[in-house]
Amino acid sequence: MTLVEEAQKVAREFDYPASELQRAIERFGEQMRDGLQRSGSTLSQIPTFVTAVPNGTEKGLYMAVDLGGTNFRVCSIQLHGNSTFSLTQSKVAIPRELMVAKTSKELFSFLAKQIEAFLKQHHEEHYEGHIRRRKTMSKGEGFKEEEIFNLGFTFSFPVQQNGINRGTLLRWTKGFDIADTVGKDVCALLQEEIDALHLPVRVAALVNDTVGTLMARSYTSPGKTGTLLGAIFGTGTNGAYVEKLSKIRKLTELNDVASYDTSTGEMIINTEWGSFDNEQAVLPTTPYDAGLDADSVNPGIQMFEKRVSGMFLGEILRRAVLSLVRNPSVPLFSDENSSLNDVHSTTNIADSSGLWRTWGLDTSFLSIAHGDESAGLRITRQALDKEYGITAASEEDAEAVKAIASAVGRRAARLSAVAIGAVVLNSEKLRESETEPVDVGVDGSLVEFYPGFEEYIREALREVPEIGEKGEKRIRIGIAKDGSGVGAALIALVAGKVNPPTEND
Ligand code: BGC
Repeated sequence: MTLVEEAQKVAREFDYPASELQRAIERFGEQMRDGLQRSGSTLSQIPTFVTAVPNGTEKGLYMAVDLGGTNFRVCSIQLHGNSTFSLTQSKVAIPRELMVAKTSKELFSFLAKQIEAFLKQHHEEHYEGHIRRRKTMSKGEGFKEEEIFNLGFTFSFPVQQNGINRGTLLRWTKGFDIADTVGKDVCALLQEEIDALHLPVRVAALVNDTVGTLMARSYTSPGKTGTLLGAIFGTGTNGAYVEKLSKIRKLTELNDVASYDTSTGEMIINTEWGSFDNEQAVLPTTPYDAGLDADSVNPGIQMFEKRVSGMFLGEILRRAVLSLVRNPSVPLFSDENSSLNDVHSTTNIADSSGLWRTWGLDTSFLSIAHGDESAGLRITRQALDKEYGITAASEEDAEAVKAIASAVGRRAARLSAVAIGAVVLNSEKLRESETEPVDVGVDGSLVEFYPGFEEYIREALREVPEIGEKGEKRIRIGIAKDGSGVGAALIALVAGKVNPPTEND
């Protein structure tokens, strides 16, 4: 077999045929229903207490903050009421020592100070109010109601919510580790620090990034159709969708639940679909997936996410490519001048190359290789050289890597179609009308930068008999930028209407 044929053989390990896709859609539907009945299910199906999606006519000035990764973002959003908005923002990197601080206070007081600095710089009038309040605190006078900013808090970690602005942290992820915070209400922690600075800000809503995406898409999407699903295909993956209240049986079992508006008969559910089929009854598994999981910080958890999202695809590719490099009969990246048997010295791969290191290959490389149309795959060869210390890669080498990269990306997109397809079928929207579009808002680096990701999703959706070509055409997928800003503001708006601030706020 030639090098490229060997690579194509590895690429075929990532094939995900229509029959398997169909089986996974059925299981996804079952796990969705199970998660609505009880706590502790594989799909968490977290009720968010957001019971309405916007229609674009919403107006007002709101604040949003976003904690979910390496940066903390503070913004204010002016909703114009005609599906448009303007946004002012500031961003700071979160100091590493605060991500692993001893106490919650250290992190949350830092966040409150960023909010104070933002108000001072961008909202002088509110900041003045803050000074006034400081002066009048002793006289028992506070703010006038209209001076208070309602704030949406985008917090993209697993949280068990028991109200629109109440929720306890289940566990930290993405490099954060502050034991003191687990089990505590993260909104209360932020409000405490805001109050300590006497800022005119009320934490009105707790928001997962997928819920923000759903709201942002619904506000900006064309026409009157409300959005069904907000999904992130980025560093992580997850989706939030609109569910009928009557189907969320476990709501009645949750303790200490805040009141919520029941008039729409609906509520947004945060699926936390990254953990779909942790049991691996239907998920495709190659030796590279198994190796990645074994070497991860949370083996056996987030098994769907580990095959779909940006944090993992680079590592899957690295392991698959390495399997060829280590095969003595396959001449990938081989150094023809070497006669040594040690794999490191018989290849053109530098010892320091990320290819030898777990997590050493970035998912952005998949987009580069898969999208490379240059003559002789010059762009891929350059990236291999500059970023991965692989000198003198031949066109065949690049072709081999490209074949595997495309296969890993295509499988991720087809798995994404499982989640989207299952949510669409669960909603019965394709049956309810013959013509209305079913609107889906998406965000994240994969949908934004991986060439053809949406088309692969669509191809898979067409293969599902209950969706077919007709159904696939009615599924309208649109990028919804900035869910954590405008989406969070919209939830703060809805929350403000349902739970107006009390005397004590
Ligand atoms: C988190 C979700 C989040 C998703 C996308 C996952 O790892 O568990 O809460 O929505 O990443 O950011």
